[in-house]
Amino acid sequence: MKSAELAQHFKDLFGSSPRIFCAPGRVNLLGEHTDYNDGFVMPCAIGFSTRVAISSRQDRKLVIRSEEFSEQFEFDLDNLPTRGKGVWSDYVLGVAVMLRQIGHPTPGASLLVRGEVPIGAGLSSSAAIEVASALALMSLNGAALPLPEVAKLCQKAENVFIGARVGIMDQFVSCLGKAGHALLLDCRSLEFKLIPIPQNVRLVICNTMVKHDHANGAYNRRREECDEGVKLLSRWYPKIRALRDVSVEQLVQHKAEIPVTIYKRCLHVVSENQRVLEGAQYLTDGDVERFGALMQQSHCSLRDLYEVSCRELDVMAEIAQSLKGYCGGRMTGGGFGGCTVNIVRATDAESFAKQISERYQVEIGIKPDVYVCSAANGASAG
Ligand code: GLA
Repeated sequence: MKSAELAQHFKDLFGSSPRIFCAPGRVNLLGEHTDYNDGFVMPCAIGFSTRVAISSRQDRKLVIRSEEFSEQFEFDLDNLPTRGKGVWSDYVLGVAVMLRQIGHPTPGASLLVRGEVPIGAGLSSSAAIEVASALALMSLNGAALPLPEVAKLCQKAENVFIGARVGIMDQFVSCLGKAGHALLLDCRSLEFKLIPIPQNVRLVICNTMVKHDHANGAYNRRREECDEGVKLLSRWYPKIRALRDVSVEQLVQHKAEIPVTIYKRCLHVVSENQRVLEGAQYLTDGDVERFGALMQQSHCSLRDLYEVSCRELDVMAEIAQSLKGYCGGRMTGGGFGGCTVNIVRATDAESFAKQISERYQVEIGIKPDVYVCSAANGASAG
């Protein structure tokens, strides 16, 4: 239905019938700020997607439009920029530029984007538009990249063209997520395993509706602090390449020799990796209570050690704990605003959503968006 509407809109604008590609946003259940440390994450794709309609053109132009924004962007394929300009079309263009760099130049094309992943909510609207655009552009240029390569290409577009030093998690799960499953990903080898989420729970995603300004700067600083940690730790453990290679015990042994802030950042990452591996086992066993307890520990660690939470996220996480049906929850994504994710018994999910919304509004003075979700499929045609 949504695709049919988009196809009609595309025809009205460009006069031809498009092909349509679709990629979802994500929510991360466990493993935060571990992806760029070569560690483990456990996200799932969600039912909000971005669709990209595409058809080829005779001229050497890339014409990009969106249903959400009024501007039309046009680029000359023989003179593409190498850096984004800070506008939404960068996410499409960046992917086209990266495809050209790996030997798959895009022919003339018109594209129309329809996004339903909330923007700026930490649910990876950017990965969704990148992945959908990559599939769309590849349908015209004959590049038949496997999905893990598509994820890497989109990450590169974001790192190099957009200038955001993100890890691989968002693009990977947008490509390879599966309905009803969490995706356990080793961010070093890119090996992954799909773990069924018990059917008697729902994911309740609560949007704080805030995004604090320093989020991007703080993200990059955390990455540098992790790199600093690896540098210090390699004095004692010369074989390590990333925090992934360090155990909690190894870190604790050198507490006194590591600056406090760096130590806290490292302790979060190494213990979070352990939580993901433990959590994967609990989820496999269907033990949502134990899994939920790890999510709560993750929140505390992100708040106290990694220091990427904020008052709104803490309040949202705390209210959840007192509500019926709650099995566990935490902030999700990069932090400093965005969403919490909670595992809630299916029978209580709707009343949980209603109550958390009311209570958050009383405490913070903003009406949050609350979504009752299940894990969804990754990217596809149509
Ligand atoms: C953002 C990035 C991801 C990941 C998370 C934190 O969502 O895009 O790569 O680093 O933050 O876990």
